Amino acid sequence: MQSDSVETLEDVPAIIYIMKRLKTKRKLLKILVATMCFLGAAQVAFRCQKTSNQDEEKSASRLEVVQKWSPFHVIRNQLNSSLVANSSADRDERPQMQLRLLSTHAANQTGAFCLDGSAPGYYFQPGVAAGLRKWVIYLPGGEACFTLEACRKRTLQTKGLGPGTTRKLANTTKGHALRSADKTINPEFWDWNMVEAVYCDGFFFSAGAVAVLRHASWFREQLPLTVNFRVFAASAAFPMLRSVRTGRFFNETTLFPAVIMHHAARSVPKACLQEADPSGLTLKCHEPFGLLQYQSAPLFVAGYVYDAWMLDNSLEARCTPKTCRGASEREGLKNLSREISETLPGLLKPQDGMFIVNCKKHFIITEHNTWTAGVTVQGVTAAKAFTDWFYGRGNSHRHMDCVTFQCYPNPTCTKARL
Ligand SMILES: *[C@@H]1O[C@H](CO)[C@@H](O)[C@H](O)[C@H]1NC(C)=O
Ligand SMILES: *[C@@H]1O[C@H](CO)[C@@H](O)[C@H](O)[C@H]1NC(C)=O
Ligand SMILES: *[C@@H]1O[C@H](CO)[C@@H](O)[C@H](O)[C@H]1NC(C)=O
Ligand SMILES: *[C@@H]1O[C@H](CO)[C@@H](O)[C@H](O)[C@H]1NC(C)=O
Ligand SMILES: *[C@@H]1O[C@H](CO)[C@@H](O)[C@H](O)[C@H]1NC(C)=O
Ligand SMILES: *[C@@H]1O[C@H](CO)[C@@H](O)[C@H](O)[C@H]1NC(C)=O
Repeated sequence: MQSDSVETLEDVPAIIYIMKRLKTKRKLLKILVATMCFLGAAQVAFRCQKTSNQDEEKSASRLEVVQKWSPFHVIRNQLNSSLVANSSADRDERPQMQLRLLSTHAANQTGAFCLDGSAPGYYFQPGVAAGLRKWVIYLPGGEACFTLEACRKRTLQTKGLGPGTTRKLANTTKGHALRSADKTINPEFWDWNMVEAVYCDGFFFSAGAVAVLRHASWFREQLPLTVNFRVFAASAAFPMLRSVRTGRFFNETTLFPAVIMHHAARSVPKACLQEADPSGLTLKCHEPFGLLQYQSAPLFVAGYVYDAWMLDNSLEARCTPKTCRGASEREGLKNLSREISETLPGLLKPQDGMFIVNCKKHFIITEHNTWTAGVTVQGVTAAKAFTDWFYGRGNSHRHMDCVTFQCYPNPTCTKARL
């Protein structure tokens, strides 16, 4: 089921999924977020009764799972009808991305709600001129809420990354990097239709492009084969390894309980359920490396050798090749860099591209300064690597940094934010 048998880009909406994730310095799980409440993800919404109850356990137990499944056609119809509305052909007059909320009725029909039961939404900016039929669909990244109580807290978070509600969102937002409507910042995609999902469901979409990798094959199936559908998974090029501290896997301690709570098992790629385990409780169906094996569309993967989220939460080696002292920490890091440099390339299809930098960081495409003038591998920025791959320019689309401890850190790591 390949999708690259496509004519010209003129006629083909291309859709890019992107996931980013944000982590505050102060609280690991607090800020986050992101995804499409209505994108076919299995959803759980918690109707949260706001309460001043100090007893966290008690208040968590009042949360009630109200919904769990959300099909894709709602957004697709919405996106179509927005095409009918004419946009200004003049870039300079293009507005910022505008918030669009689904009607409660539509949300009710699909079962897609935010954590607090509010209707999901997305920011949208119509394409112009040659971009009229092309689409960037962006799933902002973030952490997930792994417990009911954490999900409850998210419902009180009304703005920023990872709100658990759409009730108090800003009406507009400015697109950055690949979503920017500014030609000087985003020369290749500025005139496309831009969609940025509001991640209000708290589902486990953390660690970069996990949501993208979960849903891309399903999304591909919803579109005609003539559509040139391409997938960009940023900050998700890592495997889940055993914790160097406990020897246990992230799935055992944190992931699977959350998958069950969110009724998320069914939203993994169908092929993984069929091949691995119909219950969906298989690490392979949730970790980026496992999911890479189930991608039918052309894929570009960007990330770091030492993904900061992975190091903190999965490997639990909170150090770098320069600062790790313990033998098991150093061995854990060696194992990770070997997986990235040796296993990852083999998980990609011949037409796929990658951009891997020897840093301990997480963000790669969040803002334009880190996108177009950020980290480089042999002088190539992520933006150039990605667009060259996207448009089939150049020969090699696999940009793998020198991954040895001696090469750490890549001198441009300081240009990445977190
Ligand atoms: C949206 O596009 C799809 C696929 O092209 C089409 O089947 C559907 O009828 C369209 N919906 C609207 C409201 O135009
Ligand atoms: C959109 O603009 C074009 C060019 O100005 C015009 O031909 C077309 O009728 C407009 N469509 C709508 C739905 O207003
Ligand atoms: C949602 O659907 C349920 C039944 O399916 C109905 O009882 C309820 O009134 C609906 N709510 C809205 C806002 O449409
Ligand atoms: C968004 O726009 C609506 C309608 O124009 C307005 O009622 C609402 O107050 C605005 N919200 C914010 C947060 O500005
Ligand atoms: C977690 O993943 C590992 C590696 O795939 C697997 O061996 C282990 O059985 C999984 N744990 C659970 C609870 O399924
Ligand atoms: C590193 O990988 C090897 C081989 O898979 C494994 O035996 C070892 O336990 C790993 N080391 C750590 C610290 O996880």
